Amino acid sequence: MPLTYADARPHALTSAQLDAALAIEERCSPHPWTRGNFEGSLAAGHYAQGLSRGSELLGYCIAMPAADEAHLLNIAVAPEHQKHGLAQRMVRALLAWAREQGARDVWLEVRAGNDAAQRLYLRQGFAPAGRRPNYYPCPQGQREDALLMRLQLQGATA
Ligand SMILES: CC(C)(COP(=O)(O)OP(=O)(O)OC[C@H]1O[C@@H](n2cnc3c(N)ncnc32)[C@H](O)[C@@H]1OP(=O)(O)O)[C@@H](O)C(=O)NCCC(=O)NCCS
Repeated sequence: MPLTYADARPHALTSAQLDAALAIEERCSPHPWTRGNFEGSLAAGHYAQGLSRGSELLGYCIAMPAADEAHLLNIAVAPEHQKHGLAQRMVRALLAWAREQGARDVWLEVRAGNDAAQRLYLRQGFAPAGRRPNYYPCPQGQREDALLMRLQLQGATA
């Protein structure tokens, strides 16, 4: 029987999967993470979750714990698998992990022009919390603003 998106399973992202992660990253981001960025996150013990269907990596989500906060550093879904709710699943898993860590807030930055990601975050409960002008590099040497977004976790202990 063919696998469906319901068969996609979360798992820890390993260094053996970095070729697959980089192949997604390079197709998804105007300024892709390098292998060194991924390796640095794994070595630092960041939250690094993949989502796979069978042996195929469909996407990943990486976040950094910091005191009583968590910072979403990277999330991507392979273009041919987008719009099937996979990122939503990964963000929910991230929020569950952040709660378990006792985090009070989850923070992220997103390109001002990245409507798909902003809609994803708004639907998951993130709210705009500021703007960083000219934060991201763009092709042809231009810059793009970052929107800072925050989700306050309910029930976090003081
Ligand atoms: C942003 C991204 C991770 C979303 O992944 P996805 O698996 O397609 O998202 P989902 O299917 O879980 O969709 C979740 C919600 O996001 C929004 N969304 C997703 N893709 C969208 C698109 N192309 N246009 C508008 N909204 C979109 C929708 O609100 C959607 O919910 P809805 O369809 O029920 O309204 C994906 O587009 C991606 O990998 N983009 C490139 C990398 C990137 O921009 N990462 C974020 C960096 S901050």
